[in-house]
Amino acid sequence: MMKSKENGLKPHPARFPRRFAEFFIKFLTNEGDTVFDPFAGSNTTGYVAEHLQRKWIACELNEEYIKNSLLRFEEEPNLFTNKEVILNV
Ligand SMILES: C[S@@+](CC[C@H](N)C(=O)[O-])C[C@H]1O[C@@H](n2cnc3c(N)ncnc32)[C@H](O)[C@@H]1O
Repeated sequence: MMKSKENGLKPHPARFPRRFAEFFIKFLTNEGDTVFDPFAGSNTTGYVAEHLQRKWIACELNEEYIKNSLLRFEEEPNLFTNKEVILNV
């Protein structure tokens, strides 16, 4: 959230806790599976999925939230390798 403000972006107002995403991803998927979040917001799901060695696809309507979500991965550059970001606005 600090990173958002530093970059002049408004933090997503309704992020859900990482542990919530972690519980369901571990419960419902195995490593290497693909997790899809059609309403990604700040992309908590994608971030957690990445940490749990899942592939992921995220869709978000609001372009600012997408830009914001990318900041998560800037903090951990080794995490976000060999991935494709498609901004379709
Ligand atoms: C409750 S938020 C998701 C929050 C997310 N779980 C997180 O941790 O940040 C729901 C998101 O769905 C997005 N949204 C609403 N309608 C959409 C649509 N038709 N396609 C893609 N995203 C949509 C909203 O912009 C909003 O950011």
